[in-house]
Amino acid sequence: MEYTNRLQNVAVLGAAGKMGSGILLLTAVEMANLRLKPENKDKAFSLYAVDVSDQALEGLIAYVRKQVTKIAEKSIVSLRKAYEDHKNLVENGEIIDQYVDDVVAIIRPTTRMESAYDATLVFEAVNENPDLKVKLLSQIEENSSNDPWYFTNTSSVPIHSLDERIRLGGRIIGFHFYNPPAVQKLVELIPAKNTLKEVQEFAMQYAKALKKIVVPSNDIAGFIGNGHFMRDALFGIQEAERLAERKGFVRSVYAINKVTQDFLVRPMGIFQLIDYVGIDVVRYILQVMNPHFDENLHSPLLDRLYEMGVTGGQNSDGSQKNGFLKYEKGKPVAAFDPDKQDYVSFDSFKEEEDRILGELPASWSPWKKAVRSTAKDQLFSGYFSDLKKANTTGSELAFRYGRKSRNIALQLVEQGVAHNKEDVNTVLMTGFFHAYGPVNKYFE
Ligand code: 3HC
Repeated sequence: MEYTNRLQNVAVLGAAGKMGSGILLLTAVEMANLRLKPENKDKAFSLYAVDVSDQALEGLIAYVRKQVTKIAEKSIVSLRKAYEDHKNLVENGEIIDQYVDDVVAIIRPTTRMESAYDATLVFEAVNENPDLKVKLLSQIEENSSNDPWYFTNTSSVPIHSLDERIRLGGRIIGFHFYNPPAVQKLVELIPAKNTLKEVQEFAMQYAKALKKIVVPSNDIAGFIGNGHFMRDALFGIQEAERLAERKGFVRSVYAINKVTQDFLVRPMGIFQLIDYVGIDVVRYILQVMNPHFDENLHSPLLDRLYEMGVTGGQNSDGSQKNGFLKYEKGKPVAAFDPDKQDYVSFDSFKEEEDRILGELPASWSPWKKAVRSTAKDQLFSGYFSDLKKANTTGSELAFRYGRKSRNIALQLVEQGVAHNKEDVNTVLMTGFFHAYGPVNKYFE
């Protein structure tokens, strides 16, 4: 079966979820683009968006419409060409509306798993629960006569374990997008030892069509992305707990979040990122990873927050839920005190904590500016050299963190998870939108 035929009948499981909605969007666009090619005009394309809630599926279509409109506005020149036979479409707006309708027309939202039985390609983006993944994929296997290929978005479960438990004979590959899939350029590709060669070749072709950067990872729990992120997050928690002995937990969370965002010039501080991914999700990922390593990849604090119902993650309208931090208009304004089981506003201590951390050097640039800079090495060499000289509390915490992040990256190469340090840097820069990779000369 060639590339286009494989993409005629596709299902996304967990399509209304955070990752599933992005995967569905990108796949719908690729399928619509194939559909628009003259040689495919007689072919039918169906994309089953499978999820448990009708309401969430309605929200999904609204999300797709909005995002496809943005995509169409950016590619109006090629769309004009694609629709040149449609003489009734004159204005750009008419072409954009038609394209949005054409993309949405391919999507079949459904709460019935049975719809996935017709698929030749299945994207799996359900909860990070190995048993659930096995159950759903086994159900398709038992009822499908297509020998479908499975692209799992698991971020932690070893692919060979799914292959063996479901007896797929190599028709599965780890195809791991990063959040949000429409924005992050990375796809981490994880073939199991016996993943079929043709599945791997198709995966590369599909990733290229989506204009993604592909980094291969070995099939070891957590792969490169979460191999780094989970240890980075645990270090953040450990640092906050260490500082808490002196200044209390809430102020420590504020300080470490500020250091990891502003001082390290990252898009989000570590506690904001844990909330963004979800405290519950981070905890599941750690549970999957922990048995595979000698280290203790576990945080009792995450268990405690989870048990209190403090989970982070997103509401169905995409807005951020409270977690370690409380959000107003998407911005953190308070930190959670687990003893009081309540949030404490930053206003009550921000000024004092900022003074303790110290000023950022004049050579500092905010992440949004730094990430677009064409002279990043010069920018960061100057900034980190000035930060070191500043010798403030913020500088000391930032260097501790930067060195730890570097060591985690090198550990992933030593453990044979990543092929080389450049791959770890690419994962952090294209999956987590970092402006520089963790293996660098600034933190040697
Ligand atoms: N879908 C589509 N587009 C989105 C989006 C979404 N869900 N969320 C944000 N965007 C777009 C915005 O519309 C905006 O587009 P524009 O430039 O055309 O207006 C652009 O992204 C930037 O968004 P904002 O201006 O609102 O905010 P920021 O500049 O702060 O960027 C961010 C938001 C891209 C999320 C950035 O903060 C970021 O990259 N943060 C780090 C996220 C990260 O680390 N992700 C990886 C998590 S780990 C993971 O995914 C693995 C998992 O398996 C655990």
